Amino acid sequence: MCGICAYKTKENAVKLAVESLKILEYRGYDSCGISLFKNGKIETIKSLVDIEDLRKKTESISSHLAIGHTRWATHGGVTLKNAHPHLSSSNKIALVHNGIIENYKTLKENLNCAFQSETDSEVLVNLIEKEGGSLIEKVISASKKVEGTFAIAVIENDELVVGKRESPLYVAFCESGVVATSDISAFVGNVKEFYILNDDEFACLNENKIEFFNKNGEKIKKNAEILPKITQNFKIFDKTHMESEIKETKIVLKNTLKEYLNSDILTNLNLPKKIKEIDLIACGTAYHSALMGAEFFKEQGINSHAYVASEFRYGKEILSKNTLYIFVSQSGETADTIACAKLLKEKKMHLLALTNTPNCVLNRVCDNVLPTFAGKEFAVASTKAYCCQVFVLYLFSLFLAQNLQDNIEELIKFTNDFQVQDFDRALLDKIYHYKKIFFVGREKDYITALEASLKLKEISYINSIAISAGELKHGTLALVDESTLIIAISTEENVREKLFSNLEEIRARGGEVILVSNFKSGGFTKVSLSSMCENLMPIVSIIPLQFFALRMCEKLGYNPDKPKNLAKSVTVE
Ligand code: AGP
Ligand code: GLU
Repeated sequence: MCGICAYKTKENAVKLAVESLKILEYRGYDSCGISLFKNGKIETIKSLVDIEDLRKKTESISSHLAIGHTRWATHGGVTLKNAHPHLSSSNKIALVHNGIIENYKTLKENLNCAFQSETDSEVLVNLIEKEGGSLIEKVISASKKVEGTFAIAVIENDELVVGKRESPLYVAFCESGVVATSDISAFVGNVKEFYILNDDEFACLNENKIEFFNKNGEKIKKNAEILPKITQNFKIFDKTHMESEIKETKIVLKNTLKEYLNSDILTNLNLPKKIKEIDLIACGTAYHSALMGAEFFKEQGINSHAYVASEFRYGKEILSKNTLYIFVSQSGETADTIACAKLLKEKKMHLLALTNTPNCVLNRVCDNVLPTFAGKEFAVASTKAYCCQVFVLYLFSLFLAQNLQDNIEELIKFTNDFQVQDFDRALLDKIYHYKKIFFVGREKDYITALEASLKLKEISYINSIAISAGELKHGTLALVDESTLIIAISTEENVREKLFSNLEEIRARGGEVILVSNFKSGGFTKVSLSSMCENLMPIVSIIPLQFFALRMCEKLGYNPDKPKNLAKSVTVE
């Protein structure tokens, strides 16, 4: 889940690499480092602090060749020794790696050399060194012995070689040379076109030449893709990415609707003639929007289920050609989601990707793409992308049921009237001491509860669960006492009374209840929501709850953009 980059340029490649790492930091921030080639030898600089620290440490150094890494540790703790780049035992080869070498233990036993770190990546650099031939030959033959995933950049003397399996990697010419990165948004130095490396493809990068190779070491030709415009002009700058991104929700919803209404995205989709069922597959927050999507499809009369990707993959679901499989993912590079899509592609099912990242792996695996136009999302905690996913799924459900035309005005009104609502600070002061927080709701409000609880756990480390309000009395009510804060979401008219009875049951046991609702308070402390299009109330209600997680995190003194143990893109299974 790390980010890697490599530059071979006429200007200072070290500076460019640091710029790229700054953009790639969302992929992991356990440690970072750079290797460069200077005066006939490799020099390596690492930091356990952050990219800014690495920038300071490398300020006075220049080289035309540099590789960089920002780490999310999988093998070996967060230490300087485990930080990348890793050197071969002779110090002649340096490597940065994103992925997991699954058979690293067996490979390590057979390599007769001294290891400095506990990582799987150091095994790979030593394996490469032991192979014979040029650097590209060594990398390709080592890759054949490797089980697992990798995107790597390797330097030896003045040579730079990159390659990949499963983990993403893109290469390009920049103004003063060549570049490779894990994410196209991290290209620095005026890149206009880029090349996508497929699995088991490799490249030799020289300042004015890129040569591509397949796994047999044969030269291959690749076509360049135009770099999509990634910088969006609706960026709101606040003190954290998370706060900026929640505040951007209104603009990105408007933007998404505009893109859908002014283009052929929907009419150009190549969908199965008869859709009997829609299955949605995703992870984390994207799974919550998938659950919401399933509700929207059912409301339009289409049977629908949502599945967690890591479960679906090994489950016994019965597949059907009359089912449309939708893969929801902000990044489009989540390993579990991609693995499911590949599995279903082999079985020739109908696949649709709902992603926020142009040119992502998932888009390339699926037959059709529904984009969200949320702009780049940096914060690990997904916020604006979630709202856009829910919005597009609703729009798509209307389109499938041929109800979109009749609802366009309502959708426009929604995006015009929608306001981003912060969590009440005075209320926050009264409740921020709680260490046990339950979110409850019914129907779609229960899905909002799941998402609100995940957001809180993710950035404030508070023990929280989400439970369907009707389920409380079947067990979890036993945990409710004066030390419990219950946040109840109520925007579903038909189950409102039932929910209120559940809340009374909680109050009778001493639990403190906060109601997040557009209905009457029923005597409970309330966070008031505006009443808007009922189906889109999940977007209205999640915003103050995203803010609740953010403000709790700030109160407790944590950085919401760098939650512990997590990274933005989960490229390991
Ligand atoms: C969101 O706040 C989480 N960081 C995480 O659950 C995320 O939604 C999940 O990893 C899926 O990511 P994706 O949308 O990029 O596939
Ligand atoms: N396995 C490598 C490490 O732990 C790379 C991690 C990753 O890319 O997620 O350092």
